[in-house]
Amino acid sequence: MGIVTTKEMFEKAAKGGYAIGAFNVNNMEIIQGITEAAKEVNSPLILQVSAGARKYAKHNYLMHLIQAAVEDTDLPIAIHLDHGADFDICKKCIDGGFTSVMIDGSQHNFEDNIELTRKVVDYAHERGVVVEAELGKLAGVEDDVKVSAEDSSYTDPDQAVEFIQRTGCDSLAIAIGTSHGAYKFKGEPKLRYDILEKITSYVPGFPIVLHGASTVIPEFVAKCNQYGGNIPGAQGVPEDMLREAARRGVCKINIDTDLRLAMTSAIREMFVNNPGEFDPRKYLGAGRDAIKEMVKHKIVDVLGCNDKI
Ligand code: G3H
Ligand code: 13P
Ligand code: ZN
Repeated sequence: MGIVTTKEMFEKAAKGGYAIGAFNVNNMEIIQGITEAAKEVNSPLILQVSAGARKYAKHNYLMHLIQAAVEDTDLPIAIHLDHGADFDICKKCIDGGFTSVMIDGSQHNFEDNIELTRKVVDYAHERGVVVEAELGKLAGVEDDVKVSAEDSSYTDPDQAVEFIQRTGCDSLAIAIGTSHGAYKFKGEPKLRYDILEKITSYVPGFPIVLHGASTVIPEFVAKCNQYGGNIPGAQGVPEDMLREAARRGVCKINIDTDLRLAMTSAIREMFVNNPGEFDPRKYLGAGRDAIKEMVKHKIVDVLGCNDKI
């Protein structure tokens, strides 16, 4: 297999009513945990790199680690830029071997978002790279950008169709109620399936992306807190809502927070139970095992992309 774009994965996912997991990566243990899980359950993968991750681990290190994972697993893996803020970072990732980039123009007005996205699409398509764009604003925190619940806004289905046609983007991230991070809903979790349904009825089969899709599994929050963490009141997207979204045309589901929680709670537990431990392989190894279990659970029990190669 090897490093691929998301084109074929999305075509199959849209037809099959399941979603591909897009997991954020920052280091070797996270990459190994995710790819070993996908290997065991025979799943395609999207590994995504935020600007912050790229700064932390450096572009070349991440590329080589992912290349190593591809050789090790022989899985179809797409390398994707998560939330590219401008043309420059998208260009760097396209020139540097990524097969997919996200240009996130959701902070701009409609026309400026179209213009920026179109520019990235032109550059990417000439080089065989696919582009995810975003319309509508999710609440939450990514890198240094913080969007309050009041400033978030749902995607307008009519605008979405016009946006897709005028930009030529390959997939579209929409805002239907999810948000980034561990605090997603104040009251009852609610997703606007009506908006999703309208969009998919206007552009049948077009790949729709859901960001901010961690479930923030209570068991892991409790474990984190039990071992000295402090994240009370965290709440994510219930798993059955994600299954429903996948059935209704969402092809890519972004998950970062759940992996952070799994890794951090395992490392906290390790230190509490073994206060004398100072071998990084022991605690990072425990973190890697936890990531692997979490990703297997996501793929098999939530996304449904196991045995889809
Ligand atoms: O959507 C954002 C991802 O969770 C990445 O987070 O920017 O802190 O790496 P980060
Ligand atoms: P979570 O914070 O819900 O994991 O979302 C991650 C994400 O959307 C990355 O782009
Ligand atoms: Zn996101």
